[in-house]
Amino acid sequence: MSAYTSILNRRTIRKFTQQPIEQEKLVKMINAARLAPSGANLQPLKYVVVTDKNLLEEVFRTTKWAAYIAPHGTPKEGEKPTAYIVVLVDTAVRKDADNDASAAIENILLTAEDDEIGTCWIGSVDRKTLAGIVRIPEGQEIHSVIAMGYKAQESEATEMENGDVKYYMDEHGAIHVPKRKLSDIVRFL
Ligand SMILES: Cc1cc2nc3c(=O)[nH]c(=O)nc-3n(C[C@H](O)[C@H](O)[C@H](O)COP(=O)(O)O)c2cc1C
Repeated sequence: MSAYTSILNRRTIRKFTQQPIEQEKLVKMINAARLAPSGANLQPLKYVVVTDKNLLEEVFRTTKWAAYIAPHGTPKEGEKPTAYIVVLVDTAVRKDADNDASAAIENILLTAEDDEIGTCWIGSVDRKTLAGIVRIPEGQEIHSVIAMGYKAQESEATEMENGDVKYYMDEHGAIHVPKRKLSDIVRFL
């Protein structure tokens, strides 16, 4: 699949089949993150991959899902993520690593999409509790969590109407995500 096709196809997925993700696909995602652009090439990011069944449930409890359609966007039993990648910043290398993290995370999301794995980038996390669960070493901070699994939900981009940014769920459980029109966001000079 071309990178552009993966970009077009990728939508946030919040319901997953319970088929485990193959280890080599998880390694591939971390390798994609490793090779992302990095300011001054400092590469301050580290990763924890969680697939252990007991830990999955503990991590799940620290995450918040789909505020615009709560509680309907939260995965139920049998729909929960089968893996998480916790993205960490090594603050001894760099304190503010938002740009690096975003580039690395997008590489992870697109690599997953390429393997037909659905992802949800989660910023709304109880970082203190999660740090204890995944045993974050001193000097490292949790940036974000990426929840993932094989897809059990449809989601598509739609054209935004009247500036309404809120995604919604239809009667079949599919998500529709308004995106701004090209003509509203670009000027070619
Ligand atoms: C920085 C960031 C934080 C996010 N945090 C959450 C979150 O905590 N929970 C959630 O369900 N989705 C979260 N999302 C997913 C967004 O809701 C989603 O990307 C957005 O609605 C656009 O949908 P799309 O990814 O399908 O294009 C986050 C996305 C980003 C980029």
